Amino acid sequence: MVNCCLYRMIHGLRIKDGKATYVSRYVKTSRLKQEEFLGGAKFMKIGDLKGLFGLLMFNMQMLRGKLKVLDLSYGDGTANTALVYHDGKLLALQEADKPYVVKVLEDGDLQTLGMFDYDKRLAHSFTAHPKVDPFTGEMFTFGYSTTPPYITYRVISKDGFMQDPVPITISEPIMMHDFAITENYAIIMDLPLYFRPKWNIFPMSANSWEEGDEVVLITCRIQNPNIDLVSGEVEGILETDELYEMRFNMKTGLASQKKLSVSAVDFPRVNESYTGRKQQFVYGTMLDSITRVTGIIKFDLHAEPESGKTKLEVGGNVQGIFDLGPGRFGSEAIFVPRKLGISSEEDDGYLVFFVYDEASGKSAVNVIDAKTMSADPVAVVELPNRVPYGFHALFVTEVRATSRTSKTMNV
Ligand SMILES: [Fe+2]
Repeated sequence: MVNCCLYRMIHGLRIKDGKATYVSRYVKTSRLKQEEFLGGAKFMKIGDLKGLFGLLMFNMQMLRGKLKVLDLSYGDGTANTALVYHDGKLLALQEADKPYVVKVLEDGDLQTLGMFDYDKRLAHSFTAHPKVDPFTGEMFTFGYSTTPPYITYRVISKDGFMQDPVPITISEPIMMHDFAITENYAIIMDLPLYFRPKWNIFPMSANSWEEGDEVVLITCRIQNPNIDLVSGEVEGILETDELYEMRFNMKTGLASQKKLSVSAVDFPRVNESYTGRKQQFVYGTMLDSITRVTGIIKFDLHAEPESGKTKLEVGGNVQGIFDLGPGRFGSEAIFVPRKLGISSEEDDGYLVFFVYDEASGKSAVNVIDAKTMSADPVAVVELPNRVPYGFHALFVTEVRATSRTSKTMNV
């Protein structure tokens, strides 16, 4: 597992033959090299940014910086929002910049090889949440900018060739953190965050698929939060940051939505073998009043939410909850399948996530059973130091992680 954190580091946990090794490394971005040369952090203060707010504010500050200086050159990103594996390369991503290639060494160490621009075909920013179709091997991505067309969509072949840009002209610039794909469609959300007094955000999509004439999207939605760009204060997220099912009828043009949760949930993840295809289970994080992750929750999309509930409990469409316990706060939980590929048991696998114990000051990695959501972890890996609250994580098998990168990289 490789995990991104606020401090521009990526954290790698390698589990092999019943043993675990852990490493944390800075992504050696252009920005970091400049700051090393200048002798300190010159770009942005990220002092007390945490969790979901941290992610939101972090990306906003990146964009705000760009708006102020209108400097659309690249190399000031931090490559620490999320990772993706495609065409033999592990890419560290931050949405205002281009990808950085990270090599996983034989011993599990992480080495930055450099910025990657697809043989100079990538001339715009690259979302931190590209989607890889598990059946075709293609990767789909986009970049947003402050100048028209505002969104540029790209398809990257299974072999790593970036197709020509597809401009998507929208009426005004937005910050679009995530998107979704189905077998035949890409869902571009022209509403996540507008630069005007009222805000609308879709921060994280879990998955989407086609069902008859409809496209179904499972996503966490925040509605009209009040964000102060100067102070960074955010209000209104906890009241509305919840899991939704949205349906878009491609014949009639009609859309509908249904709320699936009753209090704050975010970082929705699925078994990625089902990306773009119908799936049953979504795993999310439960948030406290200051958006710390207090538990991992499993939703069953085949069941209906229980009416009359005011807090998240097992029952209805909540199939299980793993409570981290008092004083312990976690990270996004990634789903690691017991077997790769679509099988008859979508939830046959593990949920893996970092946990920080505020009393002891120590971090650990928890591995729990995704099928049973048992309170007894399958494994707990205690770490030698604290891992800061972070953003997104990725699971990659050793065969993939150490296979092609070193031979084929030309960055
Ligand atoms: Fe994200």
